[in-house]
Amino acid sequence: MIIAIDGPAASGKGTLARRLAAHYGLNHLDTGLTYRAVAAALLEKGLPLDDEETAARVAGEVDLGALDREALSLHEVGEAASKIAVMGKVRTALVKAQQRFAHRDPGAVLDGRDIGTVVCPDADAKLFVEASAEVRARRRTDEMAGRGKPADYAEVLADLERRDARDRARAVAPLKKAEDAHLLDTSDLDIETAFRKAVELIDRVR
Ligand code: C5P
Repeated sequence: MIIAIDGPAASGKGTLARRLAAHYGLNHLDTGLTYRAVAAALLEKGLPLDDEETAARVAGEVDLGALDREALSLHEVGEAASKIAVMGKVRTALVKAQQRFAHRDPGAVLDGRDIGTVVCPDADAKLFVEASAEVRARRRTDEMAGRGKPADYAEVLADLERRDARDRARAVAPLKKAEDAHLLDTSDLDIETAFRKAVELIDRVR
């Protein structure tokens, strides 16, 4: 079984994907981490962020087994990730690795921006997770405060909106709901309720 989960930053898709993977006994891949890993490697080696060939070569070497969520969570890494994510050759390399992961036994939950549209168009179940920009910025601000890294709400909101705009506007694999994906708006839902709704939707279609 393959479950595809897409949505904008801080929509709750990551938490949902982790919980669904545990519930159904599936592997889980946060594909955002693969773009972040490429960006982090470029930054670390002092390589340019605007050279597609270099970024694609680094993307071909990303080890999905060694993605360090903590190290990749830095704000600069997310910014850089959304810049290299517009490059077709980077996406081709990462999508290949993501598809291999998806088809490993016993199946997987993948979350990202283009899982239902590009990476796993034949997924058994597809969810598109939304929430208003204000709710997402509030969640992200609270999450950062919880990690001892307080951030300014207005700045977080501006950041999210800038990154979403870039993700939705890009020519290759833009962030959008697959036609056959179920929309789950989590603006007014806590994680428990969102999880139960997602299970209901998935059990109906799988
Ligand atoms: O989800 P996360 O914020 O970690 O993703 C970082 C960036 O990677 C996103 O802003 C987006 O540009 C890119 N990304 C993507 N396709 C995916 C996952 C992430 O383009 N499937």
